[in-house]
Amino acid sequence: MKIQSPVYYGDYLQLPKILSAQVTESGKHGKPAHDETLFIIIHQTYELWFKQILHELDSVRVSLQQPFVPSTELSVVQSRLERVTAIQQILIDQITVMETMTTLDFMEFRDYLVPASGFQSLQFRLIEATLGIKPEHRMEVEKQFFTSRLKAEDRATLEATEARVSIFELIQAWLERMPFSHFGDFNFWGEYSRAVEKMLAQDREIISTNPILDERTLTIELKNLDLSRESFNTLLDATRFAEWKTSGKVRLSQSAHLSAVFIYLYRDYPALQMPFRILNSLVEVDEKFTTWRYRHAIMVQRILGTKIGTGGSSGHDYLKSTTERNRAFVDFFNLATFLIPKEMTPKLPKEIRDQLDIVYDNFRT
Ligand code: HEM
Repeated sequence: MKIQSPVYYGDYLQLPKILSAQVTESGKHGKPAHDETLFIIIHQTYELWFKQILHELDSVRVSLQQPFVPSTELSVVQSRLERVTAIQQILIDQITVMETMTTLDFMEFRDYLVPASGFQSLQFRLIEATLGIKPEHRMEVEKQFFTSRLKAEDRATLEATEARVSIFELIQAWLERMPFSHFGDFNFWGEYSRAVEKMLAQDREIISTNPILDERTLTIELKNLDLSRESFNTLLDATRFAEWKTSGKVRLSQSAHLSAVFIYLYRDYPALQMPFRILNSLVEVDEKFTTWRYRHAIMVQRILGTKIGTGGSSGHDYLKSTTERNRAFVDFFNLATFLIPKEMTPKLPKEIRDQLDIVYDNFRT
Protein backbone atom coordinates (compact mmCIF):
# COMPACT_ATOMS: atom_id res chain seq x y z
CA MET A 1 0.00 0.00 0.00
CA LYS A 2 1.42 3.38 -1.01
CA ILE A 3 1.56 5.77 1.97
CA GLN A 4 0.02 9.13 1.13
CA SER A 5 0.69 12.18 3.29
CA PRO A 6 0.40 11.29 7.01
CA VAL A 7 -3.16 11.31 8.31
CA TYR A 8 -3.75 13.90 11.05
CA TYR A 9 -6.43 13.07 13.68
CA GLY A 10 -8.31 16.38 13.53
CA ASP A 11 -8.26 16.52 9.72
CA TYR A 12 -9.36 12.91 9.31
CA LEU A 13 -12.39 13.50 11.51
CA GLN A 14 -12.96 16.98 10.05
CA LEU A 15 -13.13 18.32 13.57
CA PRO A 16 -12.76 22.00 12.63
CA LYS A 17 -16.00 21.62 10.64
CA ILE A 18 -17.86 19.65 13.30
CA LEU A 19 -16.68 21.68 16.30
CA SER A 20 -17.56 24.99 14.73
CA ALA A 21 -21.12 23.88 14.01
CA GLN A 22 -22.61 24.85 17.42
CA VAL A 23 -23.97 28.30 16.67
CA THR A 24 -26.57 29.38 19.20
CA GLU A 25 -29.66 31.35 18.18
CA SER A 26 -29.63 33.05 21.58
CA GLY A 27 -26.06 34.22 20.88
CA LYS A 28 -27.14 35.60 17.50
CA HIS A 29 -29.80 37.62 19.35
CA GLY A 30 -27.18 38.96 21.79
CA LYS A 31 -28.61 36.99 24.74
CA PRO A 32 -26.44 33.83 24.95
CA ALA A 33 -28.21 31.06 26.90
CA HIS A 34 -25.81 28.60 28.55
CA ASP A 35 -27.91 25.47 27.90
CA GLU A 36 -28.43 26.05 24.19
CA THR A 37 -24.97 24.53 23.49
CA LEU A 38 -26.09 21.31 25.22
CA PHE A 39 -29.33 21.39 23.24
CA ILE A 40 -27.46 21.68 19.93
CA ILE A 41 -24.80 19.08 20.75
CA ILE A 42 -27.38 16.51 21.91
CA HIS A 43 -29.36 16.93 18.68
CA GLN A 44 -26.23 16.74 16.54
CA THR A 45 -25.11 13.58 18.34
CA TYR A 46 -28.53 12.05 17.68
CA GLU A 47 -28.29 12.92 14.00
CA LEU A 48 -24.84 11.30 13.75
CA TRP A 49 -26.19 8.11 15.32
CA PHE A 50 -29.25 8.27 13.04
CA LYS A 51 -26.82 8.37 10.13
CA GLN A 52 -25.09 5.23 11.40
CA ILE A 53 -28.43 3.47 11.95
CA LEU A 54 -29.47 4.25 8.37
CA HIS A 55 -26.11 2.96 7.16
CA GLU A 56 -26.77 -0.36 8.94
CA LEU A 57 -30.44 -0.60 7.92
CA ASP A 58 -29.63 0.15 4.28
CA SER A 59 -27.15 -2.73 4.22
CA VAL A 60 -29.80 -5.00 5.80
CA ARG A 61 -32.21 -3.95 3.03
CA VAL A 62 -29.67 -4.80 0.35
CA SER A 63 -29.03 -8.27 1.82
CA LEU A 64 -32.72 -9.05 2.17
CA GLN A 65 -33.49 -7.94 -1.37
CA GLN A 66 -31.78 -11.02 -2.80
CA PRO A 67 -34.17 -13.72 -4.01
CA PHE A 68 -32.28 -16.17 -1.80
CA VAL A 69 -30.43 -14.95 1.30
CA PRO A 70 -27.48 -17.26 2.09
CA SER A 71 -27.12 -18.25 5.74
CA THR A 72 -23.73 -16.50 6.05
CA GLU A 73 -25.42 -13.27 5.04
CA LEU A 74 -28.27 -13.84 7.49
CA SER A 75 -25.66 -13.79 10.21
CA VAL A 76 -24.41 -10.40 8.96
CA VAL A 77 -27.99 -9.09 8.88
CA GLN A 78 -28.47 -10.20 12.46
CA SER A 79 -25.24 -8.63 13.72
CA ARG A 80 -26.07 -5.33 11.97
CA LEU A 81 -29.49 -5.30 13.63
CA GLU A 82 -27.80 -6.00 16.94
CA ARG A 83 -25.55 -3.00 16.36
CA VAL A 84 -28.62 -0.87 15.70
CA THR A 85 -30.12 -1.88 19.03
CA ALA A 86 -26.82 -1.12 20.83
CA ILE A 87 -26.92 2.40 19.33
CA GLN A 88 -30.58 2.75 20.27
CA GLN A 89 -29.66 2.10 23.90
CA ILE A 90 -27.29 5.09 23.74
CA LEU A 91 -30.10 7.18 22.24
CA ILE A 92 -32.36 6.24 25.15
CA ASP A 93 -29.65 6.93 27.74
CA GLN A 94 -28.90 10.35 26.25
CA ILE A 95 -32.31 11.56 27.36
CA THR A 96 -30.94 11.57 30.91
CA VAL A 97 -28.41 14.21 29.83
CA MET A 98 -31.13 16.28 28.13
CA GLU A 99 -33.18 16.12 31.32
CA THR A 100 -30.48 18.00 33.24
CA MET A 101 -31.90 21.07 31.45
CA THR A 102 -34.83 22.56 33.34
CA THR A 103 -37.91 24.33 31.98
CA LEU A 104 -36.51 27.75 32.89
CA ASP A 105 -33.16 26.96 31.22
CA PHE A 106 -35.06 25.98 28.06
CA MET A 107 -37.28 29.05 28.17
CA GLU A 108 -34.18 31.24 27.85
CA PHE A 109 -33.83 30.24 24.18
CA ARG A 110 -36.94 28.25 23.18
CA ASP A 111 -38.74 31.12 21.44
CA TYR A 112 -35.76 31.70 19.13
CA LEU A 113 -36.21 28.17 17.73
CA VAL A 114 -39.83 28.39 16.49
CA PRO A 115 -40.90 26.76 14.15
CA ALA A 116 -37.93 24.32 14.10
CA SER A 117 -38.52 20.97 15.86
CA GLY A 118 -37.15 17.43 16.09
CA PHE A 119 -40.34 16.69 14.22
CA GLN A 120 -38.48 17.89 11.11
CA SER A 121 -35.62 15.40 11.56
CA LEU A 122 -35.41 13.93 8.07
CA GLN A 123 -33.15 11.08 9.16
CA PHE A 124 -35.61 10.03 11.89
CA ARG A 125 -38.35 9.86 9.25
CA LEU A 126 -36.06 7.90 6.91
CA ILE A 127 -35.41 5.35 9.67
CA GLU A 128 -39.17 4.97 10.24
CA ALA A 129 -39.79 4.57 6.50
CA THR A 130 -36.88 2.14 6.01
CA LEU A 131 -38.22 -0.04 8.82
CA GLY A 132 -41.72 -0.06 7.32
CA ILE A 133 -43.85 2.88 8.46
CA LYS A 134 -45.66 4.06 5.35
CA PRO A 135 -47.89 7.15 4.90
CA GLU A 136 -51.05 5.02 5.34
CA HIS A 137 -49.94 4.12 8.88
CA ARG A 138 -49.51 7.73 9.98
CA MET A 139 -52.04 9.96 11.71
CA GLU A 140 -53.65 12.69 9.60
CA VAL A 141 -51.97 15.38 11.70
CA GLU A 142 -48.54 13.91 10.94
CA LYS A 143 -49.20 13.84 7.20
CA GLN A 144 -50.31 17.48 7.30
CA PHE A 145 -47.14 18.43 9.19
CA PHE A 146 -45.02 16.73 6.55
CA THR A 147 -46.69 18.80 3.85
CA SER A 148 -46.47 22.08 5.72
CA ARG A 149 -43.29 21.76 7.83
CA LEU A 150 -40.73 19.85 5.77
CA LYS A 151 -38.61 21.55 3.11
CA ALA A 152 -39.60 20.45 -0.41
CA GLU A 153 -36.28 18.63 -0.96
CA ASP A 154 -36.61 16.75 2.38
CA ARG A 155 -40.17 15.81 1.52
CA ALA A 156 -39.01 14.47 -1.83
CA THR A 157 -36.27 12.39 -0.15
CA LEU A 158 -38.77 11.01 2.36
CA GLU A 159 -41.30 10.18 -0.36
CA ALA A 160 -38.61 8.37 -2.36
CA THR A 161 -37.70 6.28 0.71
CA GLU A 162 -41.36 5.55 1.46
CA ALA A 163 -41.78 4.32 -2.11
CA ARG A 164 -38.87 1.85 -1.73
CA VAL A 165 -39.42 -1.62 -0.39
CA SER A 166 -39.09 -1.53 3.42
CA ILE A 167 -37.44 -3.99 5.80
CA PHE A 168 -40.91 -5.02 6.98
CA GLU A 169 -41.91 -5.96 3.40
CA LEU A 170 -38.61 -7.75 2.76
CA ILE A 171 -38.88 -9.78 5.96
CA GLN A 172 -42.47 -10.62 5.06
CA ALA A 173 -41.41 -11.86 1.61
CA TRP A 174 -38.53 -13.83 3.17
CA LEU A 175 -40.93 -15.54 5.60
CA GLU A 176 -43.42 -16.25 2.80
CA ARG A 177 -40.69 -17.99 0.80
CA MET A 178 -39.95 -20.37 3.67
CA PRO A 179 -41.23 -23.88 3.08
CA PHE A 180 -42.94 -24.30 6.45
CA SER A 181 -46.59 -24.37 5.42
CA HIS A 182 -46.43 -27.65 3.52
CA PHE A 183 -44.51 -30.77 4.48
CA GLY A 184 -45.60 -33.36 1.92
CA ASP A 185 -47.91 -35.85 3.67
CA PHE A 186 -47.36 -34.45 7.15
CA ASN A 187 -50.19 -32.06 8.02
CA PHE A 188 -48.30 -29.90 10.52
CA TRP A 189 -51.03 -27.28 10.97
CA GLY A 190 -53.60 -30.01 11.62
CA GLU A 191 -51.33 -31.35 14.40
CA TYR A 192 -50.83 -27.83 15.70
CA SER A 193 -54.61 -27.29 15.78
CA ARG A 194 -55.07 -30.44 17.87
CA ALA A 195 -52.33 -29.33 20.27
CA VAL A 196 -54.05 -25.94 20.62
CA GLU A 197 -57.39 -27.63 21.43
CA LYS A 198 -55.67 -29.76 24.06
CA MET A 199 -54.04 -26.68 25.62
CA LEU A 200 -57.31 -24.73 25.63
CA ALA A 201 -59.18 -27.68 27.18
CA GLN A 202 -56.59 -27.77 29.99
CA ASP A 203 -56.90 -24.01 30.49
CA ARG A 204 -60.70 -24.33 30.64
CA GLU A 205 -60.37 -27.06 33.24
CA ILE A 206 -58.02 -24.92 35.37
CA ILE A 207 -60.35 -21.90 35.19
CA SER A 208 -63.57 -23.86 35.79
CA THR A 209 -62.19 -25.64 38.86
CA ASN A 210 -60.57 -22.57 40.42
CA PRO A 211 -62.40 -22.21 43.76
CA ILE A 212 -61.48 -18.53 44.28
CA LEU A 213 -63.24 -17.26 41.12
CA ASP A 214 -66.67 -15.72 41.64
CA GLU A 215 -69.39 -16.20 39.00
CA ARG A 216 -68.64 -12.94 37.18
CA THR A 217 -64.86 -13.43 37.00
CA LEU A 218 -65.39 -17.03 35.88
CA THR A 219 -67.61 -15.86 32.99
CA ILE A 220 -65.05 -13.20 31.97
CA GLU A 221 -62.15 -15.65 32.04
CA LEU A 222 -64.03 -18.26 30.01
CA LYS A 223 -65.00 -15.58 27.51
CA ASN A 224 -61.34 -14.57 27.19
CA LEU A 225 -60.48 -18.19 26.55
CA ASP A 226 -63.04 -18.26 23.72
CA LEU A 227 -61.41 -15.15 22.26
CA SER A 228 -58.09 -16.93 22.42
CA ARG A 229 -59.58 -19.85 20.47
CA GLU A 230 -60.93 -17.37 17.91
CA SER A 231 -57.40 -15.99 17.41
CA PHE A 232 -55.96 -19.46 16.83
CA ASN A 233 -58.78 -20.28 14.39
CA THR A 234 -58.24 -17.04 12.49
CA LEU A 235 -54.53 -17.74 12.10
CA LEU A 236 -55.38 -20.93 10.22
CA ASP A 237 -58.31 -19.61 8.17
CA ALA A 238 -57.38 -17.61 5.06
CA THR A 239 -60.73 -15.80 4.79
CA ARG A 240 -60.87 -14.73 8.42
CA PHE A 241 -57.22 -13.78 8.39
CA ALA A 242 -57.86 -11.56 5.35
CA GLU A 243 -60.54 -9.75 7.42
CA TRP A 244 -57.95 -9.13 10.16
CA LYS A 245 -55.66 -7.61 7.55
CA THR A 246 -58.36 -5.41 6.05
CA SER A 247 -59.37 -4.14 9.48
CA GLY A 248 -55.72 -3.29 10.28
CA LYS A 249 -55.53 -5.78 13.16
CA VAL A 250 -52.45 -7.31 11.56
CA ARG A 251 -50.07 -6.10 8.85
CA LEU A 252 -48.08 -9.27 8.19
CA SER A 253 -49.58 -11.75 5.71
CA GLN A 254 -51.01 -15.09 6.84
CA SER A 255 -48.27 -17.21 5.28
CA ALA A 256 -45.55 -15.01 6.81
CA HIS A 257 -47.32 -15.37 10.16
CA LEU A 258 -47.37 -19.16 9.82
CA SER A 259 -43.64 -19.30 9.03
CA ALA A 260 -42.88 -17.02 11.96
CA VAL A 261 -44.96 -19.16 14.36
CA PHE A 262 -43.12 -22.26 13.11
CA ILE A 263 -39.75 -20.56 13.65
CA TYR A 264 -40.72 -19.50 17.17
CA LEU A 265 -41.94 -23.00 18.06
CA TYR A 266 -38.89 -24.84 16.70
CA ARG A 267 -36.23 -22.16 17.15
CA ASP A 268 -33.82 -24.57 18.85
CA TYR A 269 -33.17 -26.43 15.58
CA PRO A 270 -29.92 -25.17 14.00
CA ALA A 271 -31.58 -24.17 10.71
CA LEU A 272 -34.07 -21.99 12.58
CA GLN A 273 -31.79 -20.37 15.13
CA MET A 274 -30.67 -17.52 12.88
CA PRO A 275 -34.17 -16.75 11.52
CA PHE A 276 -35.38 -16.67 15.13
CA ARG A 277 -32.59 -14.30 16.16
CA ILE A 278 -33.40 -11.99 13.26
CA LEU A 279 -37.09 -11.80 14.19
CA ASN A 280 -36.10 -11.26 17.80
CA SER A 281 -33.74 -8.43 16.81
CA LEU A 282 -36.55 -6.73 14.90
CA VAL A 283 -38.71 -6.97 18.02
CA GLU A 284 -35.83 -5.40 19.94
CA VAL A 285 -35.44 -2.57 17.40
CA ASP A 286 -39.16 -1.84 17.64
CA GLU A 287 -39.15 -2.01 21.44
CA LYS A 288 -36.16 0.32 21.75
CA PHE A 289 -37.70 2.93 19.42
CA THR A 290 -40.93 2.74 21.40
CA THR A 291 -38.97 3.16 24.64
CA TRP A 292 -37.12 6.15 23.16
CA ARG A 293 -40.41 7.74 22.03
CA TYR A 294 -41.91 7.20 25.47
CA ARG A 295 -38.87 8.63 27.31
CA HIS A 296 -38.85 11.60 24.91
CA ALA A 297 -42.60 12.18 25.45
CA ILE A 298 -42.17 12.09 29.24
CA MET A 299 -39.18 14.44 29.02
CA VAL A 300 -41.25 16.80 26.89
CA GLN A 301 -44.02 16.74 29.50
CA ARG A 302 -41.46 17.51 32.21
CA ILE A 303 -39.99 20.44 30.28
CA LEU A 304 -43.09 21.80 28.52
CA GLY A 305 -46.03 20.54 30.61
CA THR A 306 -49.05 20.85 28.32
CA LYS A 307 -47.59 23.67 26.19
CA ILE A 308 -47.60 23.09 22.43
CA GLY A 309 -44.28 22.17 20.75
CA THR A 310 -42.07 24.54 18.76
CA GLY A 311 -43.17 22.51 15.72
CA GLY A 312 -46.80 23.41 16.49
CA SER A 313 -48.14 20.00 17.60
CA SER A 314 -50.07 19.41 20.84
CA GLY A 315 -46.69 18.38 22.32
CA HIS A 316 -46.88 15.59 24.89
CA ASP A 317 -50.28 14.27 23.69
CA TYR A 318 -49.13 14.08 20.08
CA LEU A 319 -45.96 12.25 21.12
CA LYS A 320 -47.92 9.76 23.23
CA SER A 321 -49.97 8.85 20.14
CA THR A 322 -46.94 8.26 17.91
CA THR A 323 -45.42 6.12 20.68
CA GLU A 324 -48.42 3.81 20.42
CA ARG A 325 -48.89 3.89 16.68
CA ASN A 326 -45.57 4.24 14.87
CA ARG A 327 -44.34 0.69 15.26
CA ALA A 328 -43.25 -1.45 12.33
CA PHE A 329 -43.07 -4.91 13.91
CA VAL A 330 -46.01 -5.19 16.33
CA ASP A 331 -47.07 -8.44 14.62
CA PHE A 332 -43.88 -10.11 15.84
CA PHE A 333 -44.71 -9.13 19.42
CA ASN A 334 -48.19 -10.60 18.99
CA LEU A 335 -46.81 -13.92 17.78
CA ALA A 336 -46.77 -14.86 21.46
CA THR A 337 -50.58 -15.23 21.11
CA PHE A 338 -50.04 -18.29 18.91
CA LEU A 339 -47.41 -20.12 20.90
CA ILE A 340 -48.10 -23.26 22.86
CA PRO A 341 -46.06 -24.90 25.65
CA LYS A 342 -43.01 -26.84 24.50
CA GLU A 343 -44.31 -30.19 25.74
CA MET A 344 -47.45 -29.80 23.60
CA THR A 345 -45.65 -28.75 20.41
CA PRO A 346 -46.21 -31.39 17.67
CA LYS A 347 -43.32 -33.81 17.22
CA LEU A 348 -41.90 -33.43 13.73
CA PRO A 349 -41.29 -36.50 11.53
CA LYS A 350 -37.66 -37.60 11.23
CA GLU A 351 -37.17 -36.37 7.64
CA ILE A 352 -38.19 -32.85 8.67
CA ARG A 353 -36.08 -32.94 11.82
CA ASP A 354 -33.14 -34.05 9.72
CA GLN A 355 -33.56 -31.08 7.40
CA LEU A 356 -33.66 -28.64 10.28
CA ASP A 357 -30.71 -30.36 11.91
CA ILE A 358 -28.62 -30.63 8.78
CA VAL A 359 -25.86 -28.32 9.93
CA TYR A 360 -24.70 -30.56 12.77
CA ASP A 361 -25.60 -33.86 11.09
CA ASN A 362 -22.58 -33.48 8.85
CA PHE A 363 -20.29 -33.75 11.85
CA ARG A 364 -21.89 -36.89 13.30
CA THR A 365 -19.48 -39.83 13.48
C1 HEM B 1 -35.72 20.03 25.47
C2 HEM B 1 -35.70 18.98 24.70
C3 HEM B 1 -36.80 18.64 23.76
C4 HEM B 1 -38.07 19.08 23.71
C5 HEM B 1 -38.78 20.05 24.65
C6 HEM B 1 -38.72 18.44 22.58
C7 HEM B 1 -40.02 18.65 22.22
C8 HEM B 1 -40.66 18.02 21.17
C9 HEM B 1 -42.03 18.21 20.80
C10 HEM B 1 -43.03 19.09 21.53
C11 HEM B 1 -42.28 17.45 19.72
C12 HEM B 1 -43.61 17.34 18.93
C13 HEM B 1 -43.53 18.14 17.65
C14 HEM B 1 -43.57 19.62 17.92
O1 HEM B 1 -44.67 20.15 18.08
O2 HEM B 1 -42.50 20.23 17.97
C15 HEM B 1 -41.05 16.78 19.40
C16 HEM B 1 -40.91 15.88 18.37
C17 HEM B 1 -39.75 15.23 18.11
N1 HEM B 1 -38.54 15.40 18.73
FE1 HEM B 1 -38.18 16.46 20.39
N2 HEM B 1 -37.83 17.60 22.00
C18 HEM B 1 -36.63 17.70 22.68
C19 HEM B 1 -35.47 17.04 22.40
C20 HEM B 1 -35.31 16.18 21.33
C21 HEM B 1 -34.08 15.52 21.01
C22 HEM B 1 -32.76 15.62 21.77
C23 HEM B 1 -34.32 14.81 19.88
C24 HEM B 1 -33.32 13.99 19.15
C25 HEM B 1 -33.20 14.03 17.84
C26 HEM B 1 -35.70 15.02 19.51
C27 HEM B 1 -36.33 14.44 18.43
C28 HEM B 1 -37.66 14.56 18.13
C29 HEM B 1 -38.31 13.82 17.10
C30 HEM B 1 -37.68 12.78 16.18
C31 HEM B 1 -39.63 14.22 17.09
C32 HEM B 1 -40.76 13.68 16.20
C33 HEM B 1 -41.39 12.52 16.94
C34 HEM B 1 -42.66 11.98 16.29
O3 HEM B 1 -43.21 12.61 15.37
O4 HEM B 1 -43.10 10.92 16.74
N3 HEM B 1 -36.28 15.84 20.43
N4 HEM B 1 -40.08 17.13 20.29
